[in-house]
Amino acid sequence: MPLADLYLDHLREQMRRADAALERAGLEHLLIPSGVEHYGFLDDQTYPFRANPHFLAWLPLTRHPSCWIAYTPGKKPVLTYYQPEDYWHEPPAAPAGFWVEHFDLRVIREPGQARQHLPATLDRAAIIGEANAAIGDCVPNNPDAVINYLHYHRACKTPYELARMRNASRRGASGHLAALEAFREGASEHQIHLEYCAAAAHTEHDLPYANIVALNEHGAILHYHHSPTPRPPHSRSFLIDAGGSDAGYASDITRSYARESGAFADLITRVDQMQIGLAAEARAGRDYGDLHVECHRQIAGILKEADIVRMSAEAQLERGVTSVFFPHGLGHFLGLQVHDVGGFQRDESGGFIERPVGHPYLRLTRKLEAGHVVTIEPGIYFIPMLLAKLRESADAQSINWNQVEALLPFGGIRIEDDVHVTRGAPENLTRDAFRAVDA
Ligand code: GLY
Ligand code: MN
Ligand code: MN
Repeated sequence: MPLADLYLDHLREQMRRADAALERAGLEHLLIPSGVEHYGFLDDQTYPFRANPHFLAWLPLTRHPSCWIAYTPGKKPVLTYYQPEDYWHEPPAAPAGFWVEHFDLRVIREPGQARQHLPATLDRAAIIGEANAAIGDCVPNNPDAVINYLHYHRACKTPYELARMRNASRRGASGHLAALEAFREGASEHQIHLEYCAAAAHTEHDLPYANIVALNEHGAILHYHHSPTPRPPHSRSFLIDAGGSDAGYASDITRSYARESGAFADLITRVDQMQIGLAAEARAGRDYGDLHVECHRQIAGILKEADIVRMSAEAQLERGVTSVFFPHGLGHFLGLQVHDVGGFQRDESGGFIERPVGHPYLRLTRKLEAGHVVTIEPGIYFIPMLLAKLRESADAQSINWNQVEALLPFGGIRIEDDVHVTRGAPENLTRDAFRAVDA
């Protein structure tokens, strides 16, 4: 179905959610600024603009600061569209696209002019945005009752959002294939990054997060950001965590490679097989916290089989040994934000579902529902800081340190796919995208 048709249903769903959220809070209007540019301290340079995700949930306008949506249940939403007369920057084009007809449009030339298009009295308004988006007396108040409702339901993607995320996945997959090619040719991290951006057709304004492009030991730094260093004399291994975007919707993809066959390459194969199995388990009704613990159990099995840890899987879990090699969560919600909101929420009123004991970095503890999009991103890393602590612990004698030393120069492995949860077999957006762009 064309995006335009999907969009109308998507917009209706945003209005339905807004109606329910306002009713819960006893409010009459929902006002959402797109946000304003952020300047560096004492500087006239801005950071890349990131629109308010609540605004992006209604409109595919990613590069439009100082716009406002004003919605009152039962009425057509008003869009105040900021289009300055400006020869320093490229001003936004006149409003165009399939969304235009669904809004009562008001074009403004100065940000402050938005105020006259917002309700005269604001005491019954939910204003969802950052503090610096305020104009005059219209100051974001972010009522919990409204935010909690919207965040809880944002986890369930509409067909329009899924179409956007499939596009974002294909962008990412194109970048990944070009990056792999560059790695095979022996390129530096910086060159690989540039090849990625070129193939994904992304600048820093479009990348949903800073690319992680890591050769050799750098793969052990979970959020490594490449530097423009020359190519290493021998790139043994390559970990790339890089996504794409479409209208603000993200993909979040990681792949790991070895240049040559051997123990590290075998470990990649095992993590990949485990990842495919776990992704297939991401079904409606499954508790994501349990899936994370199941991942630790399987990692323990791999560490034992690969003769890295000489302990039973149960003992490894009990002693927290797997957390040395896999020290982050299995994944998170994905959508308008890479780590999308609502991952711990008990229900639409709020609440917090605790993480399993001993797993402080997990970002998602909810039970999965049809329509959720989550990442599944297990890994095995050789992180000197964590290994040094293990060496000092009572478990040190159960570790095959020769094998650990042999694997340290390869850094680590992470395989990350984006998965659309359904009542049956999940849709793997990432693997589908690789198949589509590689065809
Ligand atoms: N790219 C950040 C993450 O995988 O969560
Ligand atoms: Mn992720
Ligand atoms: Mn990632």
